[in-house]
Amino acid sequence: MSEVVIDRVHKSFGAVEVLKGVSITVERGEVTALIGRSGSGKSTLLRCVNGLEKISSGTIEIAGHKVGEDKASLRKLRRDVGIVFQSYNLFPHLSVGQNIMLAPRIVKGVAKPDTRAIAEEVLALVGLSEKFDAYPDELSGGQQQRVAIARSLAMRPKVMLFDEVTSALDPELTGEVLAVMEKLARDGMTMLLVTHEMGFARRVANTTVFMHQGRIHEAGPSRTLFENPQTPELAQFVRSDIK
Ligand SMILES: Nc1ncnc2c1ncn2[C@@H]1O[C@H](COP(=O)(O)OP(=O)(O)OP(=O)(O)O)[C@@H](O)[C@H]1O
Ligand SMILES: [Mg+2]
Repeated sequence: MSEVVIDRVHKSFGAVEVLKGVSITVERGEVTALIGRSGSGKSTLLRCVNGLEKISSGTIEIAGHKVGEDKASLRKLRRDVGIVFQSYNLFPHLSVGQNIMLAPRIVKGVAKPDTRAIAEEVLALVGLSEKFDAYPDELSGGQQQRVAIARSLAMRPKVMLFDEVTSALDPELTGEVLAVMEKLARDGMTMLLVTHEMGFARRVANTTVFMHQGRIHEAGPSRTLFENPQTPELAQFVRSDIK
């Protein structure tokens, strides 16, 4: 069953067309990685998928919701779709536990004792059980990003979107965040993620999509794509990453 269906999506900012007819399907329990040069449209696509940007034409369906309808359906969509960005955006004046308990309580109306149990569970999942009462500024960047992921998971999403979640981190902290995402993938989470971590994409993503100038230039099973690029653009992109 398809959990994400992006069909012939076009997106323009003013006169500039940034997405030029993009179609991607992600099956339930599968991971798709978006790669490509800066400015190729990866973040824009992810934001369209979550309804943060309005598409110019085409259709997007995610977790059974059609994107781009009224505000009420967008709210429903956001309950089922988690998104994590490069910046963690934790509330600095709230503890880790409070940061995580907030959305289930406010958005879903979950009772406080239950949100606490959920927070403990998702914190354990990202390996930070002992940080429940810590404040964000007492954590490393990698730990803060893992809390941001836990906060998203507390909403029990059906699909997770990740946009370069390790890009702001020192290399030694990147691995711990990628390990959390890999575990999520193993546990069957449907994921669409933008990454510069080619090794991660190759190992964890079922499918990798190479975007170039607003189009899908090449896509396929990750291993095949990285080992045997069919276009000079992808070949160069993969080469330049190895360095
Ligand atoms: N809100 C906006 N208004 C106008 N142009 C935008 C807006 N957001 C993105 N763009 C343009 O759309 C193009 C694609 O940007 P996008 O952020 O999707 O690229 P990206 O592939 O995520 O790049 P990076 O790897 O640097 O994150 C760029 O040319 C960018 O300048
Ligand atoms: Mg981007």
